Amino acid sequence: MSEVRRKKVKELLQMEAGADVLAKGWVRTKRGNKEIVFIALNDGSTVRSIQIVADKNADTEPVLSRITTGACIGVRGKLVASVGSGQAVEIRAQELTVYGECDPVRYPLQKKDTSFEYLRTVAHLRPRTNTFGAVLRLRSQMAFAIHAYFHSRGFVYLNTPLITASDAEGAGQMFQVTTLDLNNVPKNKKGLPDFSKDFFGKQTSLTVSGQLEGELGATALGEIYTFGPTFRAENSNTPRHLAEFWMIEPEMAFYDIRDNMDLAEDFIKSLVRYALEHSREDIQFLNDRYDDGLIARLESVVNTDFVRLPYTEGIRILQAARDAGHRFEYPVDWGTDLQSEHERYLVEEHFKKPVILTDYPKDIKAFYMKQNEDGKTVRAMDVLFPKIGEIIGGSEREADLQKLEARVDELGMSRKNLEWYIDTRRFGSCPHSGFGLGFERLLLFITGMQNIRDVIPFPRTPKNAEF
Ligand code: 4AD
Ligand code: MG
Repeated sequence: MSEVRRKKVKELLQMEAGADVLAKGWVRTKRGNKEIVFIALNDGSTVRSIQIVADKNADTEPVLSRITTGACIGVRGKLVASVGSGQAVEIRAQELTVYGECDPVRYPLQKKDTSFEYLRTVAHLRPRTNTFGAVLRLRSQMAFAIHAYFHSRGFVYLNTPLITASDAEGAGQMFQVTTLDLNNVPKNKKGLPDFSKDFFGKQTSLTVSGQLEGELGATALGEIYTFGPTFRAENSNTPRHLAEFWMIEPEMAFYDIRDNMDLAEDFIKSLVRYALEHSREDIQFLNDRYDDGLIARLESVVNTDFVRLPYTEGIRILQAARDAGHRFEYPVDWGTDLQSEHERYLVEEHFKKPVILTDYPKDIKAFYMKQNEDGKTVRAMDVLFPKIGEIIGGSEREADLQKLEARVDELGMSRKNLEWYIDTRRFGSCPHSGFGLGFERLLLFITGMQNIRDVIPFPRTPKNAEF
């Protein structure tokens, strides 16, 4: 018996009855009567628990009484066919070991309140629930699928810096990085903070996007992607915004906007397909527990062509809907950015499928986007998804040196700070494109969860940096 190796619950549940086994994990529930005890044991390898059956007698009573919900235990025993209906096999316990007791009064996951709001307050323990186990396994699977997708297509994984001196999106939503003493900030002659005394000798922040450095990679290596943390100090308390989120940013030389859209569509579809194939059990659990339209929604995205629509057309559709009596909270005017309600109207009510909106007004998009002939729009593309709104933002890039410099000047940005970026257009400029997929937005779609705080282990949002 002693040489029996521990097996994970996922594996045990697939085995034939008869073997001597060793399982370790955390107790989900314990119930029973005077003679017998049933324990549901989970070790995080699957959403399912394995049933442990133990006889209650004078020998076992001392150890059984220490086993409560949340306790960590080991079980040696025999895998037998289960008479109960919930499972094919269960473990007949021969030896029980308690690794860690769990105070049944203080254990936070015993509370009746299992709302997501409550679980966010105990995010250090919520991975032990079935729901967060499923979500976090899916998150890990998707990260792997993303690397596999690009790897199989010869993209180079490029690590871009997290600390940077440039505001890639020009939106000014950056977290400053400084070692200056905030109680005694050195000042320059103008009375402003003297960043030459700071750690990097200049003002630096956490990155809002790896794109600009990604372009340096693409214009040398051909096709690259980044996959890393991204930070935005936008004070948006919404179910779709985090101050720290993960972004995947592919950047490709010689791709125009159409190639870019083709890649974005194929990329998302393969990720969804991967999830349906490799994480079926977790998705089924989330579907059955919270959202019985989840699997149908995932399958429909895999099997449908995304709509491709210029922004100007989108505005016409929205205005027509408004004029026909549809109530939008925000106005729809050409030249304004679309609100989530507008994006969702197009996707969920008008087309009933994902939409790639292109050719946005240049004034609501970043400086690096390729300018169209009309002088008003840029070759931007946002991929809009049901329930989510914007899941991807991207564009063909302005490859023309003069046009890029003119736009930088027009926006009052510093050419000097961007000299290294502008060099890509100065020395062997090439047409190129790229996009950014918000990892947590993708996970919202794949898990069917409603709030972005529930698809990342430890969410960072305004006024919240617990754990
Ligand atoms: O549209 P965004 O701002 O585009 C960029 O950053 C480009 N540099 C990407 C590129 O072309 N390489 O952000 C891209 C995506 C959004 O579509 C959204 O999915 C996600 O990043 N995102 C956020 N996700 C969570 N919380 C936030 N605060 C987010 N801001 C953007
Ligand atoms: Mg965007």
